Amino acid sequence: MSEQKFIIPHDQIIVKDDRQKMNEHKSVIIWFTGLSGSGKSTLANRVQEMLFDDALHTYLLDGDNVRQGLNKDLGFSAEDRQENIRRIGEVAKLFVDAGTIVMTAFISPYITDRQMVRDLVEEDEFVEVFVKCPLEVCEERDTKGLYAKARQGLIKNFTGIDDPYDEPENAELVVDTDKLDLEESALLVISFLKNNGYIQSKI
Ligand code: ADX
Repeated sequence: MSEQKFIIPHDQIIVKDDRQKMNEHKSVIIWFTGLSGSGKSTLANRVQEMLFDDALHTYLLDGDNVRQGLNKDLGFSAEDRQENIRRIGEVAKLFVDAGTIVMTAFISPYITDRQMVRDLVEEDEFVEVFVKCPLEVCEERDTKGLYAKARQGLIKNFTGIDDPYDEPENAELVVDTDKLDLEESALLVISFLKNNGYIQSKI
């Protein structure tokens, strides 16, 4: 840590603004948070598909995938989840700098960790989307069979079962995935981006 003072950042000639102008849209983190099985990845995927089809520059960072690579050394203790989110936040920030609309799909259960990422970027560069779905519905869906395992005690510290999830208090958008279908949910996100000047989409 102390050696940090010997690292001097190098200014780049091409900056975020140049990339946004070339891309003809703003860059932003769309942070999907919610319980396992709430539909974060499905929703983020569909939103990304809509944006991509409209020739916008996008990328999706997904918990289950990033945990196979960059974050494969991390588990599910509060400390590891925090480090998971910190790294994703830093990576997402790089994508914003690269002029991209970057979507992230992580449970990100702690309000403090999500706030930490919000604080990393400019005020309008972090859009929190609460993918809201009652635990009972997520458990009923149990797409990966993990809730059943958690109930049997085979997985410890499972979010919603024996580990906490802090519901967002100031999310830009709340999407009730138990009430809306996928298209309606995705269009809510797209509308938010349009109405707030992030994109001028034909969608
Ligand atoms: S986070 O809490 O650190 O944000 P992340 O989104 O990366 O979690 O990973 C969550 C995914 O890991 C879940 O969708 C599930 O498939 C799997 N998983 C494995 N163990 C756990 C656990 N103890 N709690 C929650 N999810 C778990």
